[in-house]
Amino acid sequence: MKASVITSFGGPEVLQEADVPTPGPGRGQVLARVHAAGVNPAELTARSGGFGLPAPAIIGFEFAGTVEQVGEGVTGVRVGDRIAGWPDSFVQGAYAEFTLSGNYALIPDGVTFEQAAATVIGADNAARGLALLAPERGETLVVTGASGALGSAAVQFARLAGLTVIGIAGRDSLPYVESLGATAVEYGDGLVDRVRDAAPDGVDAALDTAGKGLLPALIELRGGTRRVVTLADLDAGRYRVQFSGETPATAGTSSSGLRWSTSRQASGAPASAARFRSRRQPTRTGSWRPVTPGEGPPRTLRADGDAVVHG
Ligand SMILES: NC(=O)c1ccc[n+]([C@@H]2O[C@H](COP(=O)([O-])OP(=O)(O)OC[C@H]3O[C@@H](n4cnc5c(N)ncnc54)[C@H](OP(=O)(O)O)[C@@H]3O)[C@@H](O)[C@H]2O)c1
Repeated sequence: MKASVITSFGGPEVLQEADVPTPGPGRGQVLARVHAAGVNPAELTARSGGFGLPAPAIIGFEFAGTVEQVGEGVTGVRVGDRIAGWPDSFVQGAYAEFTLSGNYALIPDGVTFEQAAATVIGADNAARGLALLAPERGETLVVTGASGALGSAAVQFARLAGLTVIGIAGRDSLPYVESLGATAVEYGDGLVDRVRDAAPDGVDAALDTAGKGLLPALIELRGGTRRVVTLADLDAGRYRVQFSGETPATAGTSSSGLRWSTSRQASGAPASAARFRSRRQPTRTGSWRPVTPGEGPPRTLRADGDAVVHG
């Protein structure tokens, strides 16, 4: 199969097209033909060496495609079904014609491969962050990064749950954030005052999906760290704020010669799959939408690798 293989870490130039063996599905796995792969900040970190992945590696942490082969013990899907999910390995990922997954969901009718691929990480993380905050209908929630993949999902899930949402974003993204049902507030100097103007009765919970140094402002708005969660700020410990996330696990070696990890599959796949299924419910009703090219806020695609890969 064709794949975008990394043999060293750095800028986008380290992504090199190569012919590699097509992997075969193990027990509980499907081989998926990749039609669209999300490209997100974690992959940029992985590509530049930030996660300490071994090389060679095929990155790509979310995919949408069709079932090409089913492994032993797989039930619920057949060859040709449209699915989206996580590759089972951080280094045998979705930037390829095929990937292996035991952690996927059927794509509902009316959802494109691109939308489905862009849903996997954004929706899962947004829902996990919200669950940690346990917001109640009628409360006021602040979401940073509200125009991003994680944040826009969080805003929409929170609105569906009956919350008032203050969505923090850049100036150009404010109309988009408003279109999601939030009161949009621009980040930058004076943020705390602008949020207080928008939410004079106070803020009940805060979800940071931006990771851009906004934790002190969120703590100030909340009057402490209780019910402040970050999905993105690695300084969380310094502020005693709860961080929720997942980073690539220890890698092994695949039969294809590519090194890959099984630990993620072993440790988290069933639970994640269940979460993903439950979180896709709003999509089935068509009541929320992921950020995909052309559908989100106006953006300049970065020269360092932002793209959606179409198979
Ligand atoms: N915890 C986990 O397991 C996990 C999983 C996936 C991702 N993440 C992390 O979550 C973060 C967001 O990912 P994403 O895919 O949602 O990214 P994204 O789509 O690129 O969105 C980034 C968001 O950050 C905002 N932003 C940019 N510069 C900012 C600044 N100086 N101050 C405040 N906000 C700013 C952007 O606003 P504008 O575009 O409007 O300027 C946008 O809303 C990344 O750091 C990623 O690594 C964590």
